[in-house]
Amino acid sequence: MKLTGSNQAGDAQTQVETADIAPEALTHRQAEFELTRLGGILAAANRAYHTLDAPEISDAEYDRLKRRNAQIEGLFPDLKSSDSVSDQVGGPLAEGFSKIRHEIRMLSLGNAFTDEDVDEFDTRIRKYLGLGDDAELTYTAEPKIDGLSLSLRYEAGHLVHAATRGDGEVGENVTANARMIASIPQVLENAPDVLEVRGEVYMSHADFEALNARQAETDGKSFANPRNAAAGSLRQLDAKITRSRPLEFFAYAWGAVSETLSDTQMGAIKRLQDLGFQTNPMTVLCHGTADLLAQYRQIEARRATLGYDIDGVVYKVNGLDLQKRLGFRSTTPRWAIAHKFAAELAWTRLEAIEIQVGRTGALSPVARLFPVTVGGVVVSNATLHNEDYIAGRDAKGNPIRDGKDIREGDWVQVYRAGDVIPKVADVDLSKRDPGAKPYQFPKTCPECGSEAVREPGDAVRRCIGGLICPAQAVEKLKYFVSRSAFDIEGLGAKQVEQFYKDGWIHEPADIFLLSEKYGSGLQQLKNREGWGEKSATNLFDAIDEKRRIPLNRLIFALGIRHVGESASQLLANHYGSWVEFSVAMDTATDIESPAWAELIGIDGVGEVMATSLTRTFAQEAERASIERLVGELEIEDAVRVDTTGSPVAGKTVVFTGTLEKMTRAEAKARAEALGAKVSSSVSAKTDLVVAGPGAGSKAKKASDLGVEIIDEDAWLALIADL
Ligand code: IVH
Repeated sequence: MKLTGSNQAGDAQTQVETADIAPEALTHRQAEFELTRLGGILAAANRAYHTLDAPEISDAEYDRLKRRNAQIEGLFPDLKSSDSVSDQVGGPLAEGFSKIRHEIRMLSLGNAFTDEDVDEFDTRIRKYLGLGDDAELTYTAEPKIDGLSLSLRYEAGHLVHAATRGDGEVGENVTANARMIASIPQVLENAPDVLEVRGEVYMSHADFEALNARQAETDGKSFANPRNAAAGSLRQLDAKITRSRPLEFFAYAWGAVSETLSDTQMGAIKRLQDLGFQTNPMTVLCHGTADLLAQYRQIEARRATLGYDIDGVVYKVNGLDLQKRLGFRSTTPRWAIAHKFAAELAWTRLEAIEIQVGRTGALSPVARLFPVTVGGVVVSNATLHNEDYIAGRDAKGNPIRDGKDIREGDWVQVYRAGDVIPKVADVDLSKRDPGAKPYQFPKTCPECGSEAVREPGDAVRRCIGGLICPAQAVEKLKYFVSRSAFDIEGLGAKQVEQFYKDGWIHEPADIFLLSEKYGSGLQQLKNREGWGEKSATNLFDAIDEKRRIPLNRLIFALGIRHVGESASQLLANHYGSWVEFSVAMDTATDIESPAWAELIGIDGVGEVMATSLTRTFAQEAERASIERLVGELEIEDAVRVDTTGSPVAGKTVVFTGTLEKMTRAEAKARAEALGAKVSSSVSAKTDLVVAGPGAGSKAKKASDLGVEIIDEDAWLALIADL
């Protein structure tokens, strides 16, 4: 079967027919994909045979697939999962969920909170596509369901696996549980050969109330809200429990498909409905932002009587060709946005202001509040941002909250918007104690006593203690093990704090030395409260598993200021390997060097980020710590997009002058998708300059350097049909 990828794919349009490739001819990545595929089919067959007494495939075919599975595991032993079907005698898995790598990443959505944000979303899209203000642009609008997302994979019309979102790349295999949800079809008729349907699992208000009442009767755990109840029910190791908990599923998107579902979002949703999925009946077409906002207000007005939780309205560009052109940022599509409902508000007393020290030394003030319920959640902390915010000023010195400052003991209005940390919106001066004193922001670090300095132009005061500051060291470690970084199972913020306190780990490299140094530490660890032999062994295994790490994750995990997830991806893509990257950072310290020019030439890297990178690498103690870490790792080179046949793969391209057929952003995204590096400045390393009318100094420099210069039409011809 041929996978053609999907317009909802952000990256790697996997063009593989792994099912037809002999085991010994598979690449590592293909083998991983094929084992997941076979695992799904075999598990479903096992279940059909052992649990449902209704075999779906012949014994001979079952044996053939199982042999193939074992052969591939033999060739790629590192890919053999702990719950491999080869080791099973049938029936469902006994413990834990296995993992499923999403063939196409499951993404999240950017947020809009105000009408202006929605206008900006529309403007951004028009600008990107080069559409005028009056050009026709149709969107869909639909409720944003407050549940948890699930990806269902069908092959030849049969549900082969179901996976939670997980970190977007790898989710949990909850197939057995998904089979218990009535609105998830097990078999589809006239479906594409491969079809991944994505949507939201949720629980209705009525079922949630009934479940909590039942739980109370049986002394079971009660759930805080329907979302938690849905998540707890889907992520049940015992699928029988899932069956007893009524869950529902709305389909709203798709992943890999072997043939397109439609030309439009609306058409695709209609197709999913025809295939037997529930889709939200409030999904409508809208023309322009006024229409979107009207629909938003309508859905908001119906929110209380829907019978299930929604937390906003999702807008999607209707044309799938346009969605494809717009593509994705690192974790969110450009063609969709979630317009969240207004935050809920509550008044309470601010008991105290405390200062937390972050990984970069930033002193962050936190309001400790008398606990209050805001939108169904008990809130007892809120962020106060920085000293200006407390004083009632913004970064430019203009008054905020009419210039009212915030003092300990004040009555404050707290709000939550989406999942973000609660904030303080207002202060009630009429309730202020006449003796209350303005808050004095500390000038020294409350954790290590070092001086806390505020640099000109920076809103934040920072501890200069660096590695000697325990708060910075612990926060750096927490960041290092976080989800987007090393994501080590069983090693979260709590464990990191404990190990740091006990002197077991001081810096990231120590994590990988844990089992060696404290090998007998297993003995020590398992005697600890909260640790047993199994969890200790699991932890060491989980750490070992992460010794192999993709370059972008490693760069992100270093926690360098200004270098976030998408910048790490950019840097990884540009330099390709750790050696190239680290050598470049060392040489770029000299701002006269070509390495510096190359670094700030990367589209998306500015001087601030570049300086932060080179400073980190130039700092001896910091650098030594990075080297110790790298010595423990096997770093995977950046995964190159499949650019076979691309004449611009690996080439450095500069766009200059006015482009007439596409916008600069679109040109850049397209070039990068074809494996080119897009730079904003011309140097000896530039391979190609695409010059539109009005190209000035860059074209001149290119011609001086003898770099090839072509016009927009020649560029389009070059990449046509790719
Ligand atoms: S579309 C590529 N539509 O909201 C984008 N998501 O905050 C695919 N969600 O991860 C998502 N209702 O779990 C989409 N009607 C809807 C949704 C929806 C709820 C969830 C989904 C997503 C999250 C982002």
